[in-house]
Amino acid sequence: MTTKLLYGNLIAKEIRNEISKIIEKEILNKDKRIPHLGIILTGNNSSSITYVNNKIKECKNIGIKYSLIHLPINSLENELLEEIKKMNKNPHIDGFIVQFPLEKNINQDKIILSINPKKDVDGFHPENFGKMALDIKTFFPATALGILTLLERYKIKISGKYTVIIGRSRIVGRPISILMSRKSNFGNSTVTLTHSKTPNIEYYTKQADIIIVAVGIPGFLKGEMIKKGAIVIDVGIHSNEKKILGDVDFYSVYGKASYLTPVPGGVGPMTRVMLLKNTLMAALNNRQKDK
Ligand code: GUN
Repeated sequence: MTTKLLYGNLIAKEIRNEISKIIEKEILNKDKRIPHLGIILTGNNSSSITYVNNKIKECKNIGIKYSLIHLPINSLENELLEEIKKMNKNPHIDGFIVQFPLEKNINQDKIILSINPKKDVDGFHPENFGKMALDIKTFFPATALGILTLLERYKIKISGKYTVIIGRSRIVGRPISILMSRKSNFGNSTVTLTHSKTPNIEYYTKQADIIIVAVGIPGFLKGEMIKKGAIVIDVGIHSNEKKILGDVDFYSVYGKASYLTPVPGGVGPMTRVMLLKNTLMAALNNRQKDK
């Protein structure tokens, strides 16, 4: 079977252009105050540093202002809470993120709860997560929103389809399970959320029309675990000395799936552009509030 690749990098480019136009028309033409994203990075996890550098590159490309606070390894929870407080109060910051994972000595729940929900462009605060679950407009987590948008732009119907998600993380698995199943124009999928304690995951994946893999294990989903014509979304990104791999075993799935996201160039660029979209939304909300 011919497998079509879902090029997140091309769709992200399209969306970047749309965001640029809105910034120009709705913001720069009016009050000249450029949208401003805050980023707090802790420690020296090399993947986090790469992710943050890529987010900064996106901001620079599109002309969104950014401020980076990089706290050194072994910083205390209080020091991070102090930086969050400053971002919450700073009227020039439209929205901000704290890059995860955090070091072991820092309580992630406490951090998420301390972020002002109106500036929570990651959509991780319970107020925003709850709104998402209730179908109320708010910031949606970027990767989940990116996957949904990628499917939508490629005109892949999800309504009535059976979706299996592998991985229940707060960042990807759980939010995408909510968004795929919601009662909305682009939703209405029947969803099973599988995870590390699900026995016989292939029992589910073999029946799935759409499979979203966010399990953090390189090459986890093999061709033999899917039905012919399945749509496969690979959220994983792992690099070894030779190449970058996803959570999908690309060569056994390619030729059996109808659509597949490449790694790199699939979900990653969509995640980054959705962060810009959320930042734009925060900036527009702020300017509305100032009127
Ligand atoms: N770590 C991995 N993905 C993400 C994300 O989307 N946001 C934040 N803040 N941290 C992450």
